[in-house]
Amino acid sequence: MTAQLLANKFIGLDLQKLPQHVAVIMDGNGRWAKQRGLPRIEGHRQGANTLKAILRTCNDCGINTLTAYAFSTENWGRPMTEVSFLMTLFEKLLRKELAEMHQEEVCIRFIGDLDPLPKTLQREIDRAMDVTKNNTGVNFNVAINYGGRLEILKACKAIANRVAQGNLALEAINEATISDYLDTSASPDPDLLIRTSGEMRLSNFLLWQMAYAEIYVTDTFWPDFDSSEFLKAISDFQKRDRRFGKLTTN
Ligand code: IPE
Ligand code: IPE
Ligand code: MG
Repeated sequence: MTAQLLANKFIGLDLQKLPQHVAVIMDGNGRWAKQRGLPRIEGHRQGANTLKAILRTCNDCGINTLTAYAFSTENWGRPMTEVSFLMTLFEKLLRKELAEMHQEEVCIRFIGDLDPLPKTLQREIDRAMDVTKNNTGVNFNVAINYGGRLEILKACKAIANRVAQGNLALEAINEATISDYLDTSASPDPDLLIRTSGEMRLSNFLLWQMAYAEIYVTDTFWPDFDSSEFLKAISDFQKRDRRFGKLTTN
């Protein structure tokens, strides 16, 4: 996109005050489909298009990191047909979109417990991370089989193991140590959390990292959440007074 087109698209936004890291809970695919008399999977299919558009917007306006919640550790409790549809969709999307994402300099990473995922999906995940690892565009974290509690539990075990081996002193453990052992260690904490479809909860997403995230909830279902809705969320974020417990913003 040319500089002029970009400037028009992001009119009203302060490009110097962008959130560095935006996290999204992409909720409402099922309700979007139901509203149209379609099977839930159609909502997921349409939701994938939304994600592609939002990723591109982040890349264009210069947001450093986008983390998208694609499948939670609790989502295994859904009917097997929906779970396997989602696993196949993730795999197909990676196959289809990797070349374009790579060309657009997207650096893709996956967070969550990837071991229980189908082996064919794991292969695509490894390939996508490897191919894009040196890219300089937006850092795109996809959370699959992700749970905030499981992530913290794994970090605690890994830290405890280092202490038990004599490689880390108990007194040396601080908040930064825990952050370093999380799947998101390469990213700053999210500045902004967007949740679509109106639910006011975290649903086990980035529990540690979200300590001071600004929260934006919209009633719009994820498949309808387009770039202009995304920019509205960014604009709302820019009006927030982030005090971090102090009395003034700095
Ligand atoms: C979010 O949409 C996608 C996933 C959790 C995989 P939902 O499938 O939760 O849609 P609703 O909340 O039932 O409408
Ligand atoms: C959160 O949505 C998980 C993802 C978007 C992947 P859910 O639909 O699973 O969350 P709950 O069940 O409404 O809390
Ligand atoms: Mg939901």
